Amino acid sequence: MPLSRADFPEGFVFGTATSSYQIEGHGFGGAGPTHWDSFAATPGNVVRAENGAVACDHYHRLEEDLDLLAALGADAYRFSTSWARVLPEGRGTVNEAGLDFYDRLVDGLLARGIKPAATLYHWELPSALADLGGWRNRDIAGWFGDFTAVIMGRIGDRVWSAAPINEPWCVGWLSHFDGHHAPGLRDIRATARAMHHVLLAHGRATEVMRGLGMRNLGAVCNFEWSAPANDDAAATGAAATYDAIYNRFFLGGLFKRAYPAEALAGLEPHLPDGWQDDFDSIAQPLDWLGLNYYTRKLIDHRPGPWPNYAEVEGPLEKTQMGWEIYPDGLRDFLIRTARDYTGDLPLYVTENGMANADTADRPDIARIDYLSRHLNAAREAIAEGVPLRGYFTWSLMDNYEWALGYEKRFGLIHVDFDSLQRTPKASYQALADWWR
Ligand code: FCB
Repeated sequence: MPLSRADFPEGFVFGTATSSYQIEGHGFGGAGPTHWDSFAATPGNVVRAENGAVACDHYHRLEEDLDLLAALGADAYRFSTSWARVLPEGRGTVNEAGLDFYDRLVDGLLARGIKPAATLYHWELPSALADLGGWRNRDIAGWFGDFTAVIMGRIGDRVWSAAPINEPWCVGWLSHFDGHHAPGLRDIRATARAMHHVLLAHGRATEVMRGLGMRNLGAVCNFEWSAPANDDAAATGAAATYDAIYNRFFLGGLFKRAYPAEALAGLEPHLPDGWQDDFDSIAQPLDWLGLNYYTRKLIDHRPGPWPNYAEVEGPLEKTQMGWEIYPDGLRDFLIRTARDYTGDLPLYVTENGMANADTADRPDIARIDYLSRHLNAAREAIAEGVPLRGYFTWSLMDNYEWALGYEKRFGLIHVDFDSLQRTPKASYQALADWWR
């Protein structure tokens, strides 16, 4: 069903999202090495061992990309800043060219009337800090606070909003328990520590930004609706554990100063000493919460060690990622988050979109359908009283999809990764019509 701005409340913000390592071209402009470079260089971690050295070459094509964003009619643009581009060693010497790049990006957005929505960290940890234990080391909260002071000291006066860390679950669980993302660990103790420290770092960065006088500060978490695969009590319990680890751990820390019991059941013995005393730092008052939402998972019980769950293939239509398309989950998360955690706090959908096997010349009808169904789910949540204030599509352009390399296409704009030519897709035109 076609949508228009008139279907959403006055002032509703429409935008798109990207991240630094996925588009910029990390090999350019003096950026330092990151754990994603070494993870990708290790056989078996990333499809075809692809990395972000060139990506979309956004570093050199900034103006062209911002023009495309403006022609789309976006109100806001969610981008991230690369820690290693600004501080190649993670600490110490500043790469002025890196700061200049983000300066140009922010000014380029403002010149086009687009709100800059910054995320400080979207996964490319400087190697020098990974060498010190990365997210397992409690000191990362201080290192991240120092990085925050440097980058926001430069652009913090002009960004519209800022959030410290993209998707704490991915930084913690996906990267330290599942081992699917850098640093590729599979260790429950590392996981527990990373999950806690990522929230501590969030709190420290928020404090630093408040100290700089910045406003409109939030957090961006990702959510997967977890449904029991059958009626057995064991499946229901397993789905609750999945939900606790994935969805409720970070919300609990940020908004309830506590972690859910089902997550503590496995993680508590491995949390750092004194973790219970950290919630003053973690649960800083926020101005908004961002939800990233793509899919649901069907969960069954699995015997063996905690967490005793297994994902089961579901029956719904799937995207190129193999992810089921389940718009009701977006509506239900928005309603549950407001009801159980955030109350009147403004919410944003900070990522939503689909990978599709797009070519430059075939209309991506499936993506238009996906976006319109999810925007309708968002409208249903608004009708239920949820204070949803905006929606960002992932992603502006095809890019480096982490462990899946360049094969999974999420963009509104097709990128030919040989010529780096950009070609707007049918979904770009559809959104431009809706946002007009
Ligand atoms: C999210 C990430 C983003 C992208 C999309 C598909 O989890 O934030 O970088 O990979 O998934």
